[in-house]
Amino acid sequence: MSTYRVTVLPGDGTGKEVMLESMKVLDIFHKFSPLSFDITQIPCGGEYYLDTGEEWPKGSFEFCRDQSDAILLGAIGWPNAKLPNGDNAGGQCILGLRSGLDLYANIRPVKLYKGIRHKVHGQFNDIWNPKLVDLVLIRENTEGLYHSLLRRSAQAAIGKKDSPMEIKNFPGLEGEVAWDPRPISRSGSERVIRFGFELAKRRSDTHRKKQKLTCVDKSNVLRGCRLFRKIFDEISEEYPEIETSKAFIDAFTMWLVRDPEDLDVVVLPNMFGDIATDLASVLQGGLGMAASANIGDNHMLFEPVHGSSPKYAGKGVVNPIAAISSLQLMFEYLGVRNNDSIATQCSTILDTAISTHLSSRKLMTYDLGGNASTSDVGDSISQICKESLISHYSNE
Ligand code: IPM
Ligand code: MN
Repeated sequence: MSTYRVTVLPGDGTGKEVMLESMKVLDIFHKFSPLSFDITQIPCGGEYYLDTGEEWPKGSFEFCRDQSDAILLGAIGWPNAKLPNGDNAGGQCILGLRSGLDLYANIRPVKLYKGIRHKVHGQFNDIWNPKLVDLVLIRENTEGLYHSLLRRSAQAAIGKKDSPMEIKNFPGLEGEVAWDPRPISRSGSERVIRFGFELAKRRSDTHRKKQKLTCVDKSNVLRGCRLFRKIFDEISEEYPEIETSKAFIDAFTMWLVRDPEDLDVVVLPNMFGDIATDLASVLQGGLGMAASANIGDNHMLFEPVHGSSPKYAGKGVVNPIAAISSLQLMFEYLGVRNNDSIATQCSTILDTAISTHLSSRKLMTYDLGGNASTSDVGDSISQICKESLISHYSNE
């Protein structure tokens, strides 16, 4: 029986509200499954910064690094909460962790559950098309256009000053110029692309369907992307059993909206992945449904893709499913990482509970066309999990 140390960073605004619901569900697994969880909550984010002048308490980065098997994050970002250098306050707690813990693969599944309307064609997918949208976007998470911001946030998290890159002039440009370098490295690309092939392999087993891996870049124009694609081609030779395809990001966005059922696993450089994943969320009912896992070789962090939505904060109306699905990803990756079949089973139980809740088409939040509250949804999914865990484990 395993005990996992889970560090919880609720963050700002609705991040705190959806995290409460994830905690309800986690508590059910703690009580009714063979797993147990040792939970530490740490306040953080833009609101915390406005109150205290710090993004999180001192020592928080080290706690996440040294004393956590998994980290759960709500959402970061609050209006007017800016650092003196102009960056958003709270960056340490998300970008600092992504970079400082080397969480190089940002996994963003896009799955349309039964009972949810596809937000492009407006149909329930089970009626419209027997093939369900079920793909995973893998966003490179430590370099590319985010590189300098990631680095400054990670340096701040360990209390060091960043040494920014300097450039003297931009030939052909005059006056004030702001720029963000976009370095793409061989080692950074190799590890995330290899992760993509391994995930395609694993999903070929779990989905009982051969998975294709698609490389998305802009290698017709950009040197960094040329390197990324070259490495994709090299690594694909090691995986002859995985079918591959390649696309430029501009055409890919069209393909993603038009034929999402053709896609399985997709790997993209950082900023393209950021943009494509918000777009892809409309295929699964919106950002209220979009979960993510930030995975590195030694650490992992799970968070909904959505932000802190200050406009809705305090109203108790946002959809907690993206956060609860992020918890499901935590079980899945605890299972993979620790070879823990109980954690894998818990991941399936939670996924089935979410699916059962949604297919009843009751207790939906406003984004899914209903008027249920955030806690109604958390309660419903917790109750389904409890029944299922009792029937699963009570005679064992
Ligand atoms: C995301 C978010 C973050 C990002 C923000 C909050 C820094 O948009 O996780 O996609 O840009 O990566
Ligand atoms: Mn984003």
